[in-house]
Amino acid sequence: MTFDLAIRGGTVVTADQSFVGDVGVKDGRIAALEPGLGPAARDIDAGGRLVLPGGVDSHCHVEQESSMGVMCADDFYSATVSAAFGGTTTIIPFAAQHRGQSLREVVKVYHERAAPKAVIDYAFHLIVSDPTEQVLGQELPALIRDGYTSFKVYMTYDKLRLSDTQMLDVLALARREGALVMVHAENHEIIQWLAKRLLEQGHGAPKYHAVSHARLAESEATSRAVVLAELIDVPLLIVHVSAAEAIEVIRTAQGRGLRIYGETCPQYLFLTADDIDLPGLEGAKYCCSPPPRDAAAQEAVWRGLADGVFQVFSSDHAPYRFDESGKLPKGAKTTFKEMANGVPGIEIRLPMLFSEGVGKRRLSLSRFVALTAENHAKMYGLFPRKGTIAVGSDADLAIWDPEREVTISASMLHDRVGYTPYEGRTITGWPTTVISRGRIVVDGGVLHAGRGSGSFLPCAKPETARPLGRPVPELALMSRVVGQPLF
Ligand code: URP
Ligand code: ZN
Ligand code: ZN
Repeated sequence: MTFDLAIRGGTVVTADQSFVGDVGVKDGRIAALEPGLGPAARDIDAGGRLVLPGGVDSHCHVEQESSMGVMCADDFYSATVSAAFGGTTTIIPFAAQHRGQSLREVVKVYHERAAPKAVIDYAFHLIVSDPTEQVLGQELPALIRDGYTSFKVYMTYDKLRLSDTQMLDVLALARREGALVMVHAENHEIIQWLAKRLLEQGHGAPKYHAVSHARLAESEATSRAVVLAELIDVPLLIVHVSAAEAIEVIRTAQGRGLRIYGETCPQYLFLTADDIDLPGLEGAKYCCSPPPRDAAAQEAVWRGLADGVFQVFSSDHAPYRFDESGKLPKGAKTTFKEMANGVPGIEIRLPMLFSEGVGKRRLSLSRFVALTAENHAKMYGLFPRKGTIAVGSDADLAIWDPEREVTISASMLHDRVGYTPYEGRTITGWPTTVISRGRIVVDGGVLHAGRGSGSFLPCAKPETARPLGRPVPELALMSRVVGQPLF
């Protein structure tokens, strides 16, 4: 066979193996994996470099209106270009429902936004903020069958949050339909109560964001979410975990055999609440929810990444400019309650974890691949098409120079945010050639992919969403008494 592309002599790494060899690509897929492959229309010499699966970023906000009505600075072009330059070849952003909207209509709008612009492949999670009878009874089951098999729910934010009753409805539906629920776990009432007092006392500066989003608000909501999932006997993913206390809740639940999964993000490894404590509004650049905590929490996050409490490391790229279009809707008068929440990170997600995780020997290369690519594909029903290097998988690859030193600055990144929380940090290791379905998307700092060349990926019902089949004893008993399942 003559291959379309052969990548020769690199160190090929997956979540479970590593070997020096060649990767042969034909018709967009990996066709052979062995040393000394035959001829190809195009050769890449990967000697001295690493050949990793392209990253999968399963938590990013792209061309999305926030619940406060603020539009992301990145559209599907700039976000996917930025992702690709950082070694990511698949993104799973959100199609976000605002209250009163039909989910089906929302999905249509996001497809119209993505299809003409994306340069890499994409799937969608849904954000469910209005679980009406119509949504739960008809729209969601049909959308799940059409390949939207994961959805995020919020326990905080006035216009997004679900009550515990609504959460139970959504979890029961996920169990029936085989979908995976992701939860933003923070106790709304604690945050509101603290924020009100802070503002009454004149404390509106960004640093008070971190005070109001207390660690206990995160760990209480995480515990409650775990209880709700246990009651329904359904898996649950706790997203963007930052507090050591919340990590312990997840670890304990996992230790009890529950299918509770954890996700964390660069901001919880590389920022602390001290970064938010800057003069004026500068600290708003570092505000996200949950907020970065302290050095001890950073260590707890590293531990959770290494020992398996976390399965996925995502960017939670929430691209808002540091001006009135984004972070600061009321200009110089914006209080921490009015700021757009979130930080950018779609391009630096992999290089920063590589440098500080693999480079500093906190993570093995295979664990890095699992956390940044393979586990995302498995979590959301895209494996083995995405997330690995195997014969038959899409040829989504990132060829890394593990020695390349890069000083991060907003001017070298490809998003449209205009700042990075990591300005001036020097890291080691960067992907130099990025390939999506056999197409060279980025090579030597140059973009080669055209607008709209990425494809939509319907997700299968993921294995990760399978219940244990272990309803809590009271419910099992009650079902026997009433003679039929309760949900
Ligand atoms: O602060 C954050 N994380 N903003 C993005 C929205 C979300 O909750 O994921
Ligand atoms: Zn969230
Ligand atoms: Zn998010």
